[in-house]
Amino acid sequence: MHPYIEFLIDKASKLHGKVAVPDGQFDERVLEACVRVHKAGWLDVVMVGSRAEYEKMASKFGFDITGMTIVDPDETDEFADYCKEYGVMRAKENLTPEQIEAVLREPVALAMMLVKHGKVDGVCSGVYYSTADVARPAIKILGLQKGVSKMTALGVMIFEDTPIGKNLVYCAADGTILPNPTAEELAEIAILATDKAKAILPTEPLTAMLSFSTCGSAKHEMVDKVTTALKIANEKRPDLKIDGEFQLDTAISPRVAEKKMKRPSEVAGKANVLIWPDLQAGNMVGKGMMIMGSGMLVGATFLGLNGFVNDHSRGATVDEIVTNIAFVGAQIEENK
Ligand SMILES: CC(C)(COP(=O)(O)OP(=O)(O)OC[C@H]1O[C@@H](n2cnc3c(N)ncnc32)[C@H](O)[C@@H]1OP(=O)(O)O)[C@@H](O)C(=O)NCCC(=O)NCCS
Repeated sequence: MHPYIEFLIDKASKLHGKVAVPDGQFDERVLEACVRVHKAGWLDVVMVGSRAEYEKMASKFGFDITGMTIVDPDETDEFADYCKEYGVMRAKENLTPEQIEAVLREPVALAMMLVKHGKVDGVCSGVYYSTADVARPAIKILGLQKGVSKMTALGVMIFEDTPIGKNLVYCAADGTILPNPTAEELAEIAILATDKAKAILPTEPLTAMLSFSTCGSAKHEMVDKVTTALKIANEKRPDLKIDGEFQLDTAISPRVAEKKMKRPSEVAGKANVLIWPDLQAGNMVGKGMMIMGSGMLVGATFLGLNGFVNDHSRGATVDEIVTNIAFVGAQIEENK
């Protein structure tokens, strides 16, 4: 097992929270992951959705779900209150009571309501639901943290053996949500990602703002966006180690950093938090690194949200889903 996964499980065990999983009635991989986590006992897994559907799925695939917690809207006393609350929160949508009920009967939305009411500490979804399916109820029900302008996301890429080292771990943001952040939004991503990394990395976050330029080696308005974002982030949060602008090799390869850097940097060559300049770069480079480096992606976890919500890949294996449940459980220290 990758040491980072051991770190997550160990941290999740110590915090021993409650994580809602809304995809299990739709996909046997999720159900199997829930059963494994329940048996391992390092946190309480709360399966959200129809009890009848969970039981049908368990019997079809031969899983024993005896004693596991299921939150079924039909058995939830507060469900009518949740509907009323949603109607008030989303008054501008002018939804009928039937439409509101349909929204909250969707397990992913009900899971967000459970977080809002402190019934669970976080949500782990993404196998049945798409990113947009998870992101919309997260934004609408949980809302943004005070002072945050946009919800974005952070994933963790883990590698066992690479030409630059073994058992490497990189947080990366945002490769999931915001297509083309402004300089201000990019600074916000860098700050939120660095703060999140404090909770989910075993070592101090060292954050690199990435571009196709290293410290002024190229001139272009796309580079200017990154340098402006860096300036804003450094001014707002001088306590964080955020540096740039760096090309990816300068950020993560000590050899390249030594060659290219003309000034001292605590981050160059050692970065463990990578800030993509936009979604195209982040999504493509991240996926390229994962495929070529045989990596595993943990998360993404949303940034800037009032709550811990994870949206992992729809192609996730059972092991990966288990890791993602641990990933949510490892983030919840603010709730403890
Ligand atoms: C997050 C996402 C679902 C929002 O989609 P959208 O079509 O802009 O959302 P909607 O128009 O339905 O907006 C719903 C609400 O969320 C708000 N919103 C949308 N994106 C937001 C963000 N990033 N942060 C905060 N609020 C946001 C909207 O302002 C709107 O608020 P309101 O209804 O209170 O006025 C969309 O950005 C998305 O799908 N991103 C994923 C992109 C993708 O496919 N990535 C690859 C996957 S790996």
